Amino acid sequence: MAILLAVETSCDETAVAVLEGFGNLLGSAIWSQAEIHSEYGGVVPEVASRNHVAALPGLVRSVLRQGALSLDEVDAIAATTGPGLPAALLVGAAAAKGMALGAGKPFLAINHMEGHLLSPFFGEPRVEPHVGLVVSGGHTMLVDVGGFGDYRVLGSTLDDAAGEAFDKVAKLMGLGYPGGVEIDRLARDGNRTAIDFPRSMLHSGDYKFSFSGLKTAVRYLLEKESPRIEDVCASFQEAVIDVLIEKAMRAVREMGRDVLAVSGGVSSNSRLQELACKRCAREGVRVRFAAPQLRTDNAAMIAYVAAHRFAAGRMSPLDTDVQPAFAAASF
Ligand code: KG4
Ligand code: ZN
Repeated sequence: MAILLAVETSCDETAVAVLEGFGNLLGSAIWSQAEIHSEYGGVVPEVASRNHVAALPGLVRSVLRQGALSLDEVDAIAATTGPGLPAALLVGAAAAKGMALGAGKPFLAINHMEGHLLSPFFGEPRVEPHVGLVVSGGHTMLVDVGGFGDYRVLGSTLDDAAGEAFDKVAKLMGLGYPGGVEIDRLARDGNRTAIDFPRSMLHSGDYKFSFSGLKTAVRYLLEKESPRIEDVCASFQEAVIDVLIEKAMRAVREMGRDVLAVSGGVSSNSRLQELACKRCAREGVRVRFAAPQLRTDNAAMIAYVAAHRFAAGRMSPLDTDVQPAFAAASF
């Protein structure tokens, strides 16, 4: 079985993984820079890329050591080449290409969103047909998936991503970062119907999302009144999740699929999991989530996509450039 080494540096996590086959993780390491960036109130690209440069060599060595492997025993080397912060992507891509060139191994350029999208299937040699709902800090999208490499983006967010909305609203309430986890926790003691927040684009008839209006509604409310924070968290969370689930279920129906796969950092949300399971059970749809450690950014999900690409013989040329923006058409 092929052994792949993957590097992920699209944002503020430096991650490396070595995967054998489709699910035997021989080594994995993630170093989060979140604490460094929290000082600035957001990710600073230049700081992120400098830290990737400093952290990568040690992480690669440590992951190879975990697997008791040398670079010579790896069959191919992969890196996330987009979407993400240009300066951050360049570090991982250049490092992976350098290793590939030095060790005489093939290089694989992997799309970060494909990593999230397929993460619920980690370990499986076949990706079953399904509708994928990717909800992360940077992206929100619905994709119809026929199998590995067969994707149709149905819709994405017009403004803030779901995770971004959670983080921004948490910031408005003075909660810590990442805000999604805090809101999820506080919402458990809140009343979901206390505040009737807007469900943007719920009935727009398409698969597009918009969360910036909801964020503004929370800001106005906090400026005018002093509501219970737990109630704001529960009501806000319900508004986001209502729209996500409603559109995802409609996509499953309209695409004629019977599986919904939910991935990305926001898929850890307890209410999203609860409602997705309930709705899917009611409508005879199987719901799948990525394992907890595969929901936020990691290199194992990149290695998993690379394993499929390697098996299909679809290597990338060494002059493949980074692609910071997400291009739905070429996905
Ligand atoms: O997938 P991820 O690392 O982001 C990107 O790749 O862009 O996910 C991070 C996001 C953050 O916005 C964080 O607030 C959110 O996932 N998140 C949650 C929860 N846990 C993480 N949002 C809502 N509820 C949670 N339990
Ligand atoms: Zn991500």
